This record gives sequence, C-alpha cells and structure tokens, in this order.
Amino acid sequence: MRVFQVDTAWTDENLRIGERPEPTAGPGEVRLKMLASALNYRDLLVPRRGYGSRMQALPLIMLSDGVGHIDQVGSGVDAYRIGDRVCPLFFSTWPGGEPSAEHLAYSLGCESDGTMTEYMVVPASTVVPVPAHLDDTEAATLPTAAVTAWRALVTEGRVTAGDTVLVQGTGGVSLFALQFAKLLGARVICTSSSDEKLERARELGADVTINYRSTPEWGRVARDAAGSGGVDHVIEVGGQGTLTQSLRAVRPGGAISMIGVLGGSVMDAPLGLVVTRHVRLQGITVGSREDFLAMSRAVAHSGMRPVVDRAFAFEQLREAMQYLASGRHFGKICIRH
Ligand SMILES: NC(=O)c1ccc[n+]([C@@H]2O[C@H](COP(=O)([O-])OP(=O)(O)OC[C@H]3O[C@@H](n4cnc5c(N)ncnc54)[C@H](OP(=O)(O)O)[C@@H]3O)[C@@H](O)[C@H]2O)c1
Repeated sequence: MRVFQVDTAWTDENLRIGERPEPTAGPGEVRLKMLASALNYRDLLVPRRGYGSRMQALPLIMLSDGVGHIDQVGSGVDAYRIGDRVCPLFFSTWPGGEPSAEHLAYSLGCESDGTMTEYMVVPASTVVPVPAHLDDTEAATLPTAAVTAWRALVTEGRVTAGDTVLVQGTGGVSLFALQFAKLLGARVICTSSSDEKLERARELGADVTINYRSTPEWGRVARDAAGSGGVDHVIEVGGQGTLTQSLRAVRPGGAISMIGVLGGSVMDAPLGLVVTRHVRLQGITVGSREDFLAMSRAVAHSGMRPVVDRAFAFEQLREAMQYLASGRHFGKICIRH
C-alpha cells in the first residue's frame, strides 16, 4: 500500500511516497481504509525531527489527523461494524481522566505512524465514531485541533454562557475554539493579522475583532471590549509573541490556555500580573478519548461544521504543507486519499 512518510533521514527533502505491506486486523483491532487526513502546525516540524528523541525511528508515516471506514474487524470486537466511519485518537493511550506520562506517550505521526496511509490497523478502543453530517475532510479535522479547543474550553476551562473568550489568529485550533465558545453561549473576541480573515471570523460569530498587526497592544483593547474586568478565558497560541498581551486582556481570576508557541517558546513576560490577578495558566496538549466523545456529541447535536480552507490530493502533501507554512489559510487544510 502507498504511504507518505519521512523516509531515510530527518529532512523535508526525505518526505516522500513509499510502499508498506498491507496490514490486517488482529484480535481486538480494526482496520481503517483511510478517506481523508488533515494537517496541523506541528506536522511542519516533524520531518525535521522537531519532537526529538521521543519520535519513532524512520521511516515515519506523516500526520496525526484522519478518518477512515472500518473494512476489517478483528476477533473480539463488538463495538464496530464494517463500514463505520471513525477517527483514530491523537493519543492512543489516553482513554480519559487526567494527563499522565503514559497517556501522553504515543501520538500519531510522531511517536507512532500517522494517517497518510491507505490502511491503518489500530486497537478498537482507540477510535471514535464521527458525526454523520460531516463530510470526510471535515471529519478528518477533529482529532487534534478540535479536541484541543474542547479540552481547553470545556474540560479544563469550564466556560459557561455569558463568559468572554479570546481566540488568537484564525488557524485550526482558534477557529474551533471560536465555534465551540459560541455553542457554549460565550462572547468571542478574535484577533488576526488580516482584516479579511476578521470579516470571515465575524461571519462565524466573533463578536469583537482586533487586527494584531495594526493594534500590537491589543491586550488593553480586548480587556475594555470584554468589560467586567477583562476576558474570562484566553486561547493562547502565540506564546512568546502574545502572552504579555493575553495577561493584559485577562480578568482577575481568569484563565489562559497555553496551547501553542507560534511566536517562540522562550520569553520575558510580566509574571507579576499572573500573581496579582490570580490568573490560571493551564497547559493543554490535545486531549483524551473522553474529550473526543464529548466534543463529537456537541458537534453532532449542534450540526456545527469545521472550517475547511482547502483540500489537496494525497500526492500533494508537500504542497499542502507549504500552504500551511505560508499562513494564508483560514481554518483547516485537508488531504483527500
Ligand atoms: N497543545 C496542543 O494540544 C496543540 C494542539 C494543536 C496545535 N497546537 C499548537 O497551537 C498552535 C496553533 O496550531 P494550529 O494548528 O491551529 O496552527 P495554524 O492552523 O497554522 O494557525 C496559525 C494561525 O495562528 C495565527 N498566528 C500565527 N502566528 C501568530 C502570532 N505570533 N501571534 C498570534 N497569532 C499568530 C495566524 O492567524 P492569522 O493569519 O489570522 O493572523 C496563523 O494563521 C501551534 O503552535 C501548534 O503547535 C497545540
């Protein structure tokens, strides 16, 4: 079968299509005929061994997000039938509860082979059925960015109706956070480098929009727009580039979900504000199967659709990654198998 993998060395040039033997489902396992995959920012770092010595030895099949039809069911599996459409979990060893070293040990497309393959065999306990109203590319976007946004806002953040949520930029995680915050009845402030993208964010329900290029000191603007002392919950994806502004935006007792470090991971922030404002800084790294199931129920019940910017063909993974790196996208970039 065809796979798209980092082949013989950790460089972008070694990212290519290869061949692997077709796997079969053993006891307790299911085999997925993959239908679509989706990209995340971290996939840009994988071919350069950006996650260090924990990564699987080469060759490594790319991407953590995907959806497939079950086409083989191993003995002892009662929960699934041939034809069911499911996503494999980002963390195959995190069924639920608090994070632990064991729960965070294996993620797809990094410490284990990912979704850019014709067939995947995984334990039946590590897949989640997808909402029926989503097409394949939409369904493929759920395992990483959507589960991350859900865990940040709901499992850890306990955002409720009337809260104000600030999302940074219009990438995958932030647009899921915008959509989930609206489902929860929250007000949303969205930042972006582009007025055109902010217009689209308003169409998705953003109540207040701020261009972080033309308003670099956006923290105070967001705090004033939120009222009641500031923003209740910030979805922080910039890190070095943005945490200072987030600390100015957040209300006393508010929360900042530390999700990404797009602007760098080493910084000099006004940490006194964390102390004097009782701010909760919560690290988030995707989530568990329980988080995925709860999120899927909300998506199915609400009819919400993930924002897919563009879908590329299987052979065009490199082009898709270049497009992601360009930052021109709004929402998710997908691959059709
Ligand atoms: N911890 C986790 O569980 C987890 C899970 C998924 C992703 N992440 C991390 O979260 C971050 C976002 O991931 P993603 O997949 O959503 O990325 P993405 O789809 O590539 O989104 C990137 C967007 O973020 C905005 N942005 C870029 N640099 C920025 C900066 N310095 N300050 C503010 N906004 C900035 C831009 O939006 P505009 O074009 O609108 O300006 C850009 O389009 C990455 O660091 C990723 O590794 C973490």
